[in-house]
Order: sequence, then C-alpha cells, then structure tokens
Amino acid sequence: MSTNSETATVVARGRLAMLTAHLRPSSADDVASALQPLRLSVQSSPPPNVKGTLTVVDERTGKKYTIEVSAEGTIKATDLKKITTGKNDKGLKLYDPGYLNTAPVRSTISYIDGDEGILRYRGYPIEELAEKSNFTEVAYLILYGNLPSESQLAEWKFAISQHSAVPQGVLDLIQALPHDAHPMGALVNAISALSIYHPDANPALRGQGVYNSNQVRDKQIARVIGKITTIAAAIYLRITGRPPVLPSNNLSFTENFLYMLDSLGNRSYRPNPKLTRALDIIFILHAEHEMNCSTSAVRHLASSGVDVFTAVAGGVGALYGPLHGGANEAVLKMLSEIGSVENIPEFIEGVKSRKRKMSGFGHRVYKNYDPRAKVLRKLTEEVFAITGRDPLIEVAVALEKVALSDEYFIKRKLYPNVDFYSGIIYRAMGFPPEFFTVLFAIPRMAGYLAHWRESLNDPDTKIMRPHQVYVGEWLRHYKPINERIVSSDGDKLGQVAMSNASKRRLAGSGM
Ligand SMILES: CC(C)(COP(=O)(O)OP(=O)(O)OC[C@H]1O[C@@H](n2cnc3c(N)ncnc32)[C@H](O)[C@@H]1OP(=O)(O)O)[C@@H](O)C(=O)NCCC(=O)NCCS
Repeated sequence: MSTNSETATVVARGRLAMLTAHLRPSSADDVASALQPLRLSVQSSPPPNVKGTLTVVDERTGKKYTIEVSAEGTIKATDLKKITTGKNDKGLKLYDPGYLNTAPVRSTISYIDGDEGILRYRGYPIEELAEKSNFTEVAYLILYGNLPSESQLAEWKFAISQHSAVPQGVLDLIQALPHDAHPMGALVNAISALSIYHPDANPALRGQGVYNSNQVRDKQIARVIGKITTIAAAIYLRITGRPPVLPSNNLSFTENFLYMLDSLGNRSYRPNPKLTRALDIIFILHAEHEMNCSTSAVRHLASSGVDVFTAVAGGVGALYGPLHGGANEAVLKMLSEIGSVENIPEFIEGVKSRKRKMSGFGHRVYKNYDPRAKVLRKLTEEVFAITGRDPLIEVAVALEKVALSDEYFIKRKLYPNVDFYSGIIYRAMGFPPEFFTVLFAIPRMAGYLAHWRESLNDPDTKIMRPHQVYVGEWLRHYKPINERIVSSDGDKLGQVAMSNASKRRLAGSGM
C-alpha cells in the first residue's frame, strides 16, 4: 500500500472513532441547538425600478443613439451593435474578461448583495435557513421556489431515496480508478458516467424535446440529488480502501451520507446527531450561489442541449479549481504551512508582495464579510465542542484578524469567504483535505439543477456563445515547408519532457 493510501486509511479510522465516540440518541434539542441564532445581515429594500433610456453620443462620428434601460438596470448588449463608425466596423461590443459586469441570465433563485454581505435563497436570508431549516427542504426551496408543505416534503424525500441507488457500472468505474485518485476527479467521472447509464433522458438519443416534460425533468433532478451522496460515499470508501455501502431509506439526506461513510456494514449504525446537523448546515450554506464559475458552466453546457448529467459534471469540473470550490482544500494546506501564529507576519508579507494568494479570502461579488463565513465561523465552535479544538483554528482566527486590519486587504475589500472556515470544520470532522471539495459539490447539485430547470423554462435561453476580439494576424498565405522563415521570438513548441517509458525503451535499445 502506498503512503497516500495509508494516510487516507488512518484519517478515516480516526474519523470513525471520533464520530462513534460521541454517539448518542438523536433528540429535537440536538437539531435546534446546533446553531444559536445569528444576527441577520442588513435588510435592504428591493432595488428601485430604474427603467428609462440612455443617450449615447459617439464622439467618433457625432451620432446620437438612444438605448433602452430595463427596470432592472440592464441594457441589451446587442443594442450596442448599432453603434458603428461605418462599413468595416461591425459595431460596439462589450470586452468583459471574467464577466465582471455581464449578466447573461435573469434568475429568481438566489440574491446576493456583495457590498452588504447579503445572501438569500428565493428571498429567505441564508442565516435564517441555516438556523431553522434543513438541507432537504432547502434543496426543494431552491429547485421549486417555495418551502415544501408536509406532503410535498414527504414526496420529495421519497423521490430522493427512491433514486439513491447508483448503477453498478458507475460503482465499478469508481472502483477501477487509482486508489489515490483525487476525489473531485473521480466525482467528475462518475457524474458524467450517469449520462451513459440514463439514455432515456438523453436529448442526443431521445430528441431535443425530451426535457419538455416536467415529469422527465423531475426524475433527473431526483436522480442527481438521490445519487450524489451514494457516489460521494463510494468515492470516499474507495480512497479509504473499503467496500461500497448501500444507502439507507429511513435516514435523512445528511444522516444517510454519514451512515454510508461510517457504518461498515452495521445497519443499525447512526451518526452523531450534532455532527450530522453541523454538516447539514454546511450543506445549506453551499447549496446555491447564483452565477458563480461552476453554475454558469452548467448553464453554458446545458444551453447546447446536452443531457443534464454531462452539464452537471462540467460544473463539478469547474468547482474543482483552487480559485473556486477547491479553495477549501487550499486553505487547509495554507494554514498547515503557516503552522503557528508567529509565522503569520511573514506569510502576510508574502501575500502582499504577490508571492502567493491568501486562500479563502476575497470574492468576486462579496466586498464585505461573506455571510456564509459568519455562520461557519460560529459553527466551528459548535463542532469543536464535540470533536475537540483544532489547533489550526488559532492560526485561522489570528490570520483573519491581521488581514482585516491590514491596509492591503482593507483597500481591496478582501474578507473571509465560505472556504476560509469550512475546511477547518471538515478536518475536525475527520475528512481528508482532498475530500473537502466533494462536500461542497454534494449540496451544490441543488443550485446547478435549479439553474438547469430555470434555463429550460426561460424563453430568453439561447446557446451560450460569447464573442471574441480578434487581434491576430490579418491574412497570410500558405508556404511550403522549405520556404518558411522561423522567427526567433515567435511562439513555438517548447521542450516536452520525455516519458519515463521512452527513457527506459531508449536505454534498453542501447541508444
Ligand atoms: C475569489 C477570487 C478568484 C476573486 O477574483 P477577482 O474577482 O477576479 O478579483 P481579483 O483577482 O481581480 O482581485 C482584486 C485585487 O485583490 C487581490 N486579491 C484578491 N484575492 C486575493 C487573495 N485571496 N489574496 C491576496 N490578494 C488577493 C488581487 O491580487 C487584486 O489586487 P490588485 O488589484 O492589486 O491586482 C480571488 O479573490 C481569489 O483568488 N481568492 C482566493 C481563492 C478563493 O478563496 N476562492 C474561493 C472563492 S469562494
């Protein structure tokens, strides 16, 4: 067995010991007390109706244009096309690398005010949902627009559990991956394989209209939400060298997930209720976040009409990146590298001199404290009360304090984001760092699927196909190879390292 695999097994054993050591019967108090009430973020009033027109004077031509401004304060990018200087000018375009100020969709799913630190799902403040709700009903809220009634919730739970079994071929695929495969790489593959095992829902096979039926849509939603924990658990069990465990039908979403990770075949095993509740709260916090990198990737793929499993797998691929969901893993590495509070000033100097970025800090939208990070900061203490204090929390808290009072971070409005504290909680719960982003991906399925569903209903949906600004060679003509002049400063293939097998073969042939 390799060192990686041994480490993973040791981590898993420790986790199991810690979870079971605190095992006691669940009670209503456990659920209520897992998070004390949090102060809600600022109650802002709805944005005003700013409908009107914009008059643009093109100083290049002297022409004047009138452009409609919508009630929501947007202009149609295509309206700018009419602003042109003449024949060879195809009109004004928006140059917006990273989509800093471009809204390709209108959505009713979640609302963020990054300056005020507000996040709401379908109008409900995130803090209120984290305190009072649970992931199963929050997923329903995100997907279907309202909190479910009792009967709707019962049907929803039934649909999820009915679809929690994963095709054997997908489990085989997970088993066939190297034991030290990164769990996110495994997750991308497994979700993408679902597409192959569900040809009944594939527009490429059943025609583009297959998703016109609500019944077909809802079945795919139940499939993804139902299977995601079974897949994630199978990946966890694979990396820890244990056989897959079948899901249980009588447990809640999050309880069932922990049950699959830790029951080791004992059907009566029940995870610690407080830790289950803590993870459930983390799932609520990660369920949806409007047009972030991975959700917009899902919308982008879905706009081509591809099946929903492939679209979601693409989103998980985007989530894997260290600038996005992978930041929680990067935070833990960073805190471990810093090691102790005395090393913080040197680390901060390294960030300020741009030697490295501070993982878990900064956000494209939040220019204030991420409201999810506030909930998580509080949750760390609740989890530590069960698992014992993680010494890295002292480093994290001190790092946050130093950063928030440093001119570099203040000027750029860099605050802790959702990934800053989540990793510490995951570690306290005994998860290996490589698995952290999977714990982000599980609940985010709700957001991805809500956006997929919304895009299917939206009459404005079109295949996503941005423009580029071509700045390359204008026109050249083909030259035979012996007539080509190689310029010394041009881009060319660099030195590609020889593969180890080639080195062996060359050594063997006596060359
Ligand atoms: C999230 C993130 C990708 C947003 O990027 P963005 O909106 O494109 O913002 P920018 O990268 O343009 O950052 C603006 C400025 O703040 C700096 N900055 C942003 N995040 C920083 C960080 N984590 N550490 C140090 N400096 C940071 C940038 O260097 C830039 O400085 P400059 O204007 O002097 O060049 C970025 O903040 C980041 O890389 N954070 C760390 C990764 C992370 O935690 N991701 C999870 C997000 S939930």
